[in-house]
Amino acid sequence: MASMSEQRHISLETDLALDLVRVVEEAAIASARTMGEGDREKSDRVAVQAMRSAFEQMPIKGEIVIGEGERDQAPMLYIGEKVGAAPLPGVTFPEVHIAVDPLEGTNLCAMGTPNAISVLAASEQGGLLHAPDCYMEKIIAGPACRGSLILDAPVAENLKEIARCMDRRVQDLVIVVLDRARHAKLVEEIRAAGARIRLIPDGDLSAGIAVAVRGAGVHAVMGTGGAPEGVITAAAIRCLNGAMVGRLVVNTPELEERIVGMGIRDPRRIYSARELAPGRSIVFAACGVTDGALLRGVRFFGQGCRTHSLVLTLASNKVRFVDTVHLETPPGPRGIRLY
Ligand code: FBP
Repeated sequence: MASMSEQRHISLETDLALDLVRVVEEAAIASARTMGEGDREKSDRVAVQAMRSAFEQMPIKGEIVIGEGERDQAPMLYIGEKVGAAPLPGVTFPEVHIAVDPLEGTNLCAMGTPNAISVLAASEQGGLLHAPDCYMEKIIAGPACRGSLILDAPVAENLKEIARCMDRRVQDLVIVVLDRARHAKLVEEIRAAGARIRLIPDGDLSAGIAVAVRGAGVHAVMGTGGAPEGVITAAAIRCLNGAMVGRLVVNTPELEERIVGMGIRDPRRIYSARELAPGRSIVFAACGVTDGALLRGVRFFGQGCRTHSLVLTLASNKVRFVDTVHLETPPGPRGIRLY
């Protein structure tokens, strides 16, 4: 057994970022194999299984804080589940809290439509809000809008402010909204203010990342989507220095009770990205399943497949796009084929 002075410490951001990419790559590859089968449960299940086994090789003492649901309802990657490799003598594994969405956009994958991703965020203990599986009202925008988004302000006012911060007219903005009946009034108000709209069938998480990146052609996400997706988005937004405000939608007594049990005292609280993902050390990793605005989907070819991922780190300020060729067998005499 090594003495304390010989202990090797593993750092989340500098040592593990690429391992976390491997975790989302494995989930993306597994679910991409089911693309277009029309079976969303199967697409999700294979992503969860692949992500779970990839975690088994990671040198972490990990705990899932946002996952596939409660222990009784989710066989794997449930909230509270411990993940990571068996301990190694002489090596101190970091204690890591992890929020996962092995397949964000299950319908998108099942239908073979754009923007399905596999995604996770990891932080030191306590670095990610333990949000329940409920809805969250959100406004997300790029770095120029930091400090300017007001969740309860009229839609037209927020749009005017976003346009001012981004040095353009309201008519030049493209606002991403989930195509849901609950957003009828929001859509009406955005139209009345003169901004353009991109209605999406699913996937407000990848849209939330896209708005924080210049040149993606979208400027804000508005509306109500999943709270777990909101926390994972906040982790990415912190790394990208973007702007976000969100509030949990607590609309039943059961949910209110649950929220209190999770340590959230004020169910009406409006959170910033920093409050949703307060970690000092954060890694966000996403891998494209189907083609999207920021990431290409998984491409299979004779010898394996190719994936496209994004990995962000907070303290070490890195934005990496990772393009990986996964070979099932060593390259043959004719070399590697990429497509
Ligand atoms: P799933 O991948 O779990 O199907 O979630 C997709 C999604 O569109 C999220 O991006 C979004 O936050 C949420 O569902 C919206 O929920 P709902 O479909 O109930 O409106």
